[in-house]
Amino acid sequence: MTIVVTGGAGFIGSNFIHYILSNFNTKVINLDALTYAGNLENLNTISKHENYIFKNGSINDHDFVKSIFNDYSVKSVINFAAESHVDRSIHGPAEFISTNIVGTFNLLEVSLEYWRSCKFNDFRFIHVSTDEVYGSLDADAVAFTEKHAFRPNSPYAASKASSDHLVRSYNKTYNFPAIITNCSNNYGPYQFPEKLIPLIILNSLNSKPLPIYGDGSQIRDWLYVKDHCIAIHKVLMEGSLGETYNIGGLNEKTNLEVVHIVCSHLNKLKPRKTGYYQDLIKFVKDRPGHDTRYAIDATKITNELGWTPAESFETGILKTINWYLENFDWVENVTSGDYKKWIDTNYS
Ligand code: NAD
Ligand code: TYD
Repeated sequence: MTIVVTGGAGFIGSNFIHYILSNFNTKVINLDALTYAGNLENLNTISKHENYIFKNGSINDHDFVKSIFNDYSVKSVINFAAESHVDRSIHGPAEFISTNIVGTFNLLEVSLEYWRSCKFNDFRFIHVSTDEVYGSLDADAVAFTEKHAFRPNSPYAASKASSDHLVRSYNKTYNFPAIITNCSNNYGPYQFPEKLIPLIILNSLNSKPLPIYGDGSQIRDWLYVKDHCIAIHKVLMEGSLGETYNIGGLNEKTNLEVVHIVCSHLNKLKPRKTGYYQDLIKFVKDRPGHDTRYAIDATKITNELGWTPAESFETGILKTINWYLENFDWVENVTSGDYKKWIDTNYS
């Protein structure tokens, strides 16, 4: 079995490739444009694996994508490639439109042509998306099910919602064998430190302020990244074509709670010379259009595919903090040049 993983040098894509190569005899072609978020260091330990091939290029490049389908007997595509950071989408939405919408369209076009002409009648296209397409929930509202209307509030969420609609339309119109997954916030190894949890760990270790947008009362539903990878693999193998599956962590926490939990662990694992990591918390200007709450109802994937998360937030966050403590070289390598410019742009 040969699968194409787009965006495999990013956070979730690289965790997915590790999961596949460690557990299955599957050939993985990693198609990645290596943007600021793509980092081949994430894959150092498997770069020479006999079942792993890396192809540097963009999902927007029709000929490049087509050449991969021509050269390999591709059985499935798992589309992780995206611009993925809400704050960046606020500062510069153009790349989100280009990669998330036009890129997905291009990938669909090439995949459709390939599927129509190929010999595999069990070809599958899995589109990895986010719960942010559903918009924001009030505190007492029921969690997002797959039937919830799309009401995206950031350019990132809108671009992902558009791509989900495109994928859905290819299934309905052309009977194209696609499945969509909408997942809550992930955390774990190899997450770029522009996102909340790794940013808090990194800033704590560097004695820098821990920026909390607004009052920190916003709620996210946190899922350990390996649990997401297991869910995607289940969807790939057993999911029903044309369906959407919500994936969530059953771990709703306010941002302030998350930051306090990270600080409490660090106080024990790497105590400061004086004071506590919580002393670094700094409330900063809120994110425009900041969604109040996300929460996923994962009943469908649990009932149909038997998936539930293995990690609680308590176990997953400890693994994550320990990973960052043990891999500080990785953090230092990804936080040079471009990263510093981003921090200045967003937090100045
Ligand atoms: P990421 O930003 O860490 O990685 C994105 C990867 O895509 C990078 O390796 C980048 O180089 C690559 N890429 C960007 N543009 C490309 C292009 N035009 N062609 C090929 N590759 C390109 O993102 P992530 O956090 O790993 O998210 C992966 C997917 O999962 C995204 O589609 C995202 O919307 C979705 N998702 C993320 C989360 C989360 O919490 N991180 C939650 C739910 C869904
Ligand atoms: P983030 O990790 O960017 O994920 P998303 O916006 O996709 O949910 O942010 C998670 C939450 O943390 C979100 O409510 C915004 C908040 N946040 C902060 O309070 N401070 C920060 O410096 C960052 C990056 C995020």
